[in-house]
Amino acid sequence: MDWGMMNRLSRIVNPKTGRCVMLAVDHGYFQGPTTGLENLGKTVNPLLPYADALMITRGALRNWIQPQMTKPVVLRVSGGQSILKELSNEVITTSIEDAIRINASAMTCSVYVGGEYEKESIANLAKIVNEGEAYGIPVLAVTAVGKELTRDARYLALASRICVEIGAHMVKTYYCEDFQKVVEACGKVPVIIAGGKKIKEKEALEMSFNAVKAGAAGVDMGRNVFQSEDPIRMIQAVRAIVHEEASVERALQIYEGGKQLSGSRA
Ligand code: R5P
Repeated sequence: MDWGMMNRLSRIVNPKTGRCVMLAVDHGYFQGPTTGLENLGKTVNPLLPYADALMITRGALRNWIQPQMTKPVVLRVSGGQSILKELSNEVITTSIEDAIRINASAMTCSVYVGGEYEKESIANLAKIVNEGEAYGIPVLAVTAVGKELTRDARYLALASRICVEIGAHMVKTYYCEDFQKVVEACGKVPVIIAGGKKIKEKEALEMSFNAVKAGAAGVDMGRNVFQSEDPIRMIQAVRAIVHEEASVERALQIYEGGKQLSGSRA
């Protein structure tokens, strides 16, 4: 791997631990003003100290985030659809030149395996991997799932492995039972999980714990952080699981603001 590519990746996934807490706030690119992100800066800026990287679009970055921010940017470079239409119908919206101008540490797009525009979304990934390889910018592939697709290990391993074979440097997918099979399918490529729709904090922490235990490199969580009643404590709790091997109980204590337990992994 080229020096620049390795250096950018190391800004996102801690090279000492192989772990990462990414904050995903790119939802507006197809969902519009998602609950919690109406004023994106107000929500995101207080969370930045606890995130290893920020997943965001160029428009949101330029509108709501100060350029003095020093966290690595994982730039969403795809779009072109909305929740009102077929979700798999994405194109690449952001040029490699603009990604470089923004100083992106990685680029990201979604891949819709089994979706109506499966081939086009895989071609989008191939395009940004080719461009990223030319300039040393790694690519995070997001395995997006259609409404009708089951999020099980068989499907997610299929979708994630395709992303790896196309050349993705990181894969973001959903947690499922037998998640180790998804991780195994990705070889040396780090796998991080999305949070998905808002669930109870305890459940989101359990999911993070189980994902890391099954070999995930961490999380790329959005709604379960910024839609939480206490987003700062929630990201701190997730961080404890990913970076400090905290048990779910300990992470819950952190979320609830109580005295931390001395317990470690269950
Ligand atoms: C979806 O394609 C976007 O990449 C979101 O950023 C992603 O779903 C992660 O956010 P959440 O944890 O809210 O699912």
